[in-house]
Amino acid sequence: EKITVSIIKADVGGLPGHVLVPDEIIEVAKQSLEEAKQSGDIIDYRVLNAGDDLDLIMTHREGVDSTKIHRIAWETFEKATEKAKELKLYGAGQDLLADAFSGNVRGMGPGVAEMEFTERESEPVLAFLMDKTEPGAFNLPIFRMFADPFNTAGLVIDPSMHNGFVFEIWDIYESKRVFMKTPEEIYDILALIGGKSRFVIKRVYPKEGKLPADEPVAVISTEKLYKIAGEYVGKDDPVALVRAQSGLPAVGEVIEAFAFPHLVSGWMRGSHNGPIMPVPFRYSKCTRFDGPPRVIAAGFQLANGKLVGPVDLFDDPAFDYTRQKAMEVAEYMRRHGPFEPHRLPSEDMEYTTLPGVLKKLKERFEDV
Ligand code: 13P
Ligand code: 13P
Ligand code: MG
Ligand code: MG
Ligand code: MG
Repeated sequence: EKITVSIIKADVGGLPGHVLVPDEIIEVAKQSLEEAKQSGDIIDYRVLNAGDDLDLIMTHREGVDSTKIHRIAWETFEKATEKAKELKLYGAGQDLLADAFSGNVRGMGPGVAEMEFTERESEPVLAFLMDKTEPGAFNLPIFRMFADPFNTAGLVIDPSMHNGFVFEIWDIYESKRVFMKTPEEIYDILALIGGKSRFVIKRVYPKEGKLPADEPVAVISTEKLYKIAGEYVGKDDPVALVRAQSGLPAVGEVIEAFAFPHLVSGWMRGSHNGPIMPVPFRYSKCTRFDGPPRVIAAGFQLANGKLVGPVDLFDDPAFDYTRQKAMEVAEYMRRHGPFEPHRLPSEDMEYTTLPGVLKKLKERFEDV
C-alpha cells in the first residue's frame, strides 16, 4: 500500500513583522492536526516553522491533491489565522488568498509539496523548509543531489544510481512542463533551471531500475503568490521533500547540496538577492534585513506511514563554515544597498511596490 507525505505551508502571520511563527500558532496547528490524526484522517504529522512560514508535515493514504487532506490543512490555517488576528500578528492570514476552501489549496495561497510512493524496507525522508526566498532556490541543490557527481558520489560508484534520473521542470510563467533526463541532458537542464525565477524543478523521478519509475523521489512547492494575488504579497517561501538511500542519494549526499550558500531571490521585501543559510530549527527566524534567507532540514524515517524523527540536520558544527560564508556574502551583498544585483533586476520588481514609485517619476521625463 502506498503512503503519501504532504507538506502544506502558509504564512499566517509573523512575530514581530516577518521574523517567525510564535509558539501560540504552532500549538493551534498541532491541536488541529492531532484531531485529524485521532479521527484517522491522517497517519501522523509534525508542525515546524521556517521563519514566519507555518509548515504542516502530514502522512496519510489519500494520495496527492486529496480534498480531505487539503481541507485539513486549510482549516488548520484558518484556525491559526484566527489566533494570529487575536494576537494582532503581522500579516495575519498573509498567504490565505481565498475566502473559502474550494476542494484543493493549490491556487489559494498555501504552498504544497507532496508525493505518493511505496514505502521501502527503510524509508529515509528529508523535509527542507525555506523562508525569505522563492521556489527556484531549490534548483541548485536538487540538481546537485541528483545530477552532480561532484556532490553525490553514488552517481559514480553505486550501480543502482548510475542510470540517472528524470527531472520534471516547470515553466511557471507559461504553466508548462517538460521531462528531461540525466545525465544525457544535463546541459539543457542547466540552460533552463539556471533561470530560476522562471524554470523550477517540480519533481525528480528514478529511471527504470531498482525503484518504480512512476513514483517521485523528490518534490518541490512551486506556487507563485503574485500570480495568484496579482500583486506582491510576500515571497513564495518554498518547501521540498527528498527521499534518500538505496538507489537514491545517501542522506549525507542530500544534505551536502546545502554546504554552498548560493544566492537566491527574496530577503527584504522579497526584492533582494542574498545567500541561503542552512540553520538549526532554533535559528529558524529571519532577523538581519529580514533574513538572510534560511533553510532548515528535518530528517525522518517512515515506519508504515508513521514519522520517526525529526532530526535537526543543520544543527551541527559541520555547517558552521557554510553559515560563516553565508554571512560574509550577506555582508558583501548588503553593502550594495539599493543597487542591483543586490536589489532584484527590474523584471522581477514588477510585482513589488517599486512600480508605484516609478509611476510618479514617469511624467517628469522629457525627450532627449
Ligand atoms: P556506516 O558504516 O556508518 O553504516 O556508513 C555507511 C555509509 O555508506 C555512509 O555513507
Ligand atoms: P515573507 O515572504 O516571509 O512574508 O517576507 C515578506 C517580506 O516582505 C520580508 O521583508
Ligand atoms: Mg510574512
Ligand atoms: Mg516567509
Ligand atoms: Mg512569504
